[in-house]
Amino acid sequence: MTDLSFLNSSQLEEYQKNGFLVIENFIDAGKVDLLRKAAEKIVDDFDMSRVSVFSTKTQVEKSDAYFLESGDKISCFFEEDAFNENQELTVEKSKAINKIGHAIHDLHPEFKSVSYTEKLKALTSDLGFKKPVIAQSQYIFKQPSIGGVVSPHMDATFLFTDPVSCTGIWIAMEDATITNGCLQAIPGSHDNYPLTKRFVRDASDAYSQANKTTFIPLNEVQEDWDMEAMVPLEVKKGDMIILHGKCVHMSYENRSGHSRHAYVMHLIDSEYEWDELNWLQRASDFPFIELN
Ligand code: FE2
Repeated sequence: MTDLSFLNSSQLEEYQKNGFLVIENFIDAGKVDLLRKAAEKIVDDFDMSRVSVFSTKTQVEKSDAYFLESGDKISCFFEEDAFNENQELTVEKSKAINKIGHAIHDLHPEFKSVSYTEKLKALTSDLGFKKPVIAQSQYIFKQPSIGGVVSPHMDATFLFTDPVSCTGIWIAMEDATITNGCLQAIPGSHDNYPLTKRFVRDASDAYSQANKTTFIPLNEVQEDWDMEAMVPLEVKKGDMIILHGKCVHMSYENRSGHSRHAYVMHLIDSEYEWDELNWLQRASDFPFIELN
């Protein structure tokens, strides 16, 4: 076995077997509090008139463009359940945001400081990355009462390389439990199931200018994931979950009175081509940055 610099050999074995691994106390509580404050400030400063999730056709198209342009920005996205039928917010803005994405790791100093670290570089080396880059970052709120379900998926569907290199780094900004909608995953699913589809920019409509997204099937197989095998990954504030890009995972809605904040990065190995179909694209003068 090659020398490990962050994981020990039993941790690596566990990760390779399950497709996920919990690392306790990855970030100390003081730093977590700074990240939480920084996220609150981003939402405070966010001008709501710039985007919407309203359900009229025009608004949806506007939202698509806002989403597709967010790969190299700090953008805020609403919870669907934050609006009533008259398209008015039912909760205050600070409780209505689903997430911030998708380049806070590069654009915000507080998030940058916890993203480009020796620890993460060492971890990617243990996992066999040749040229690790952080492709995207998200601050996820999972708001009290209205935090929506995230249905079962593989992250490599959304961030595709061939071979699959997408790896999630999911850091708890507060305790995550079954009650407030913690991450859930199927052990071994990264090995047991093929990737069935990709989420891509859709240029099929001549008028859309690749301004929409769609799923395209891969392989000739259906998803037949064993949902009974899903296990909850309850973690404490500051803990981190490493998630293989083909690990099937989800989270249930949060109907509790407590939020479930998390800071999530997705790494890919830039040794492999980042193809133009991937929904996430960055400006040519703002490429992915290698961890070093
Ligand atoms: Fe995911």
